[in-house]
Amino acid sequence: MTSTSPGLPNLVPGAPIQGRVDCAVDDLLRSLPDPDHLSAEQRRGMIARYTAVLEGNFIYWMTGAFLAARSEDARSIILENLHEEVRDSHPEMLRRFALAAHAVPTDVDASAVYRDLTKVRLFIGRLSGVQILLTMAFFEGFIQRFMAYLADLAERQGSSEMVYTDVHGVCDITHTQELFRALEAEMALDPPAPETDLFEGVDLLRGLLRTIVHSDSLELKVS
Ligand SMILES: [Fe+2]
Repeated sequence: MTSTSPGLPNLVPGAPIQGRVDCAVDDLLRSLPDPDHLSAEQRRGMIARYTAVLEGNFIYWMTGAFLAARSEDARSIILENLHEEVRDSHPEMLRRFALAAHAVPTDVDASAVYRDLTKVRLFIGRLSGVQILLTMAFFEGFIQRFMAYLADLAERQGSSEMVYTDVHGVCDITHTQELFRALEAEMALDPPAPETDLFEGVDLLRGLLRTIVHSDSLELKVS
């Protein structure tokens, strides 16, 4: 992580922000366990928790970004992303991926992510355009770089259904760059107050992704 302070006008050009987002993605990727050391149940659990979060929430959260964004540039970039998600039915693509890996989420998997998922949902509900766009840029950046690892887990589960990971390992490179462009447009039109923690949503989502990766799905996290 850099020591760049959030919420300052000199962050508007985007580069320092993107650097912090890249660091956050790097941190998460570095924390991924060696697949050679995972049991079949641990592999299944990670795929299932990922599916439990992404399948029903990605489009919903991108819709939140659309509702919150005020700049035309940001709105058209988000709309293009949503169009692709819906037209190509990415939730169905992910469901097929999980089915083929014998990793359809169970109630236990859903319970494992529930607490952290709720925090992100409530954050999105506040409809803060700049913060949500930054969160989704981080999300896309993580997804794109996580795909090779996820595909490896699925393959070790005996699956050869890789459409989801193939598509997202490529298309999300463009999506991430476009979302940073949307963020820049939104910050120029509707700059957040100096005291705003720009990375609030990123931090909440990082917590959720850590739970996806590291939670023992046999340990219920509902409290
Ligand atoms: Fe997608």
